[in-house]
Amino acid sequence: MQFSEVIKKRRAIRNYTDKPVERATIEKLISSAILAPSAMNLQPWAFAAVIDRQKVDEYAKQAKEWLLTSLSKTSYDPSVQHMLEDPDFTVFHHAPALVLILAKSSGSQASEDCCLAAENFMLAARDEGLGTCWVGFGRPWLDLPLTKAGLGLPDQYHVVAPIVLGYPKAWPESPGRSPAEIHWLG
Ligand SMILES: Cc1cc2nc3c(=O)[nH]c(=O)nc-3n(C[C@H](O)[C@H](O)[C@H](O)COP(=O)(O)O)c2cc1C
Repeated sequence: MQFSEVIKKRRAIRNYTDKPVERATIEKLISSAILAPSAMNLQPWAFAAVIDRQKVDEYAKQAKEWLLTSLSKTSYDPSVQHMLEDPDFTVFHHAPALVLILAKSSGSQASEDCCLAAENFMLAARDEGLGTCWVGFGRPWLDLPLTKAGLGLPDQYHVVAPIVLGYPKAWPESPGRSPAEIHWLG
């Protein structure tokens, strides 16, 4: 795909086919993610990946259970409670794979660096015909010390970007964008 097309045609995907995502594909996407710029080239990122749909669903269940009882500990608006109470709602969209982009330090710009890696990852995925969705909703549970310990992740790492991925059942229309607000200075 043309670069401009990749940017225009990336979408948040919440409906995936059963086709699994191969380990080699995830490694290829991560090799694009780490080409992102980072402050002082510190490259403060690490990646964790699950390519087992059952496991992703299990994490989704645990994240939902935690959110249902602990929403007030997050910055989410209490109005999302009703969405969580829907038995059909699943945090990770029943995706066949989940990749976490983790900041290895709490350095002042580590989160920004990880966000840039995340965008590279999602664009590279689009170029491979894969859909992605950054699931911020999964982050509070994933970033709990208990969860990280259970997943074997170092406690000092912070989950910045939980990204689900897989082959989309369909590519939805863009939800659109408002015109950019631009201030020409000087
Ligand atoms: C930081 C961040 C957090 C997001 N969290 C969620 C989420 O928890 N669940 C979800 O389904 N989509 C989530 N999204 C996807 C956005 O809803 C989506 O990108 C937006 O609606 C624009 O649609 P598009 O990506 O197809 O252009 C998130 C996106 C970003 C960048």
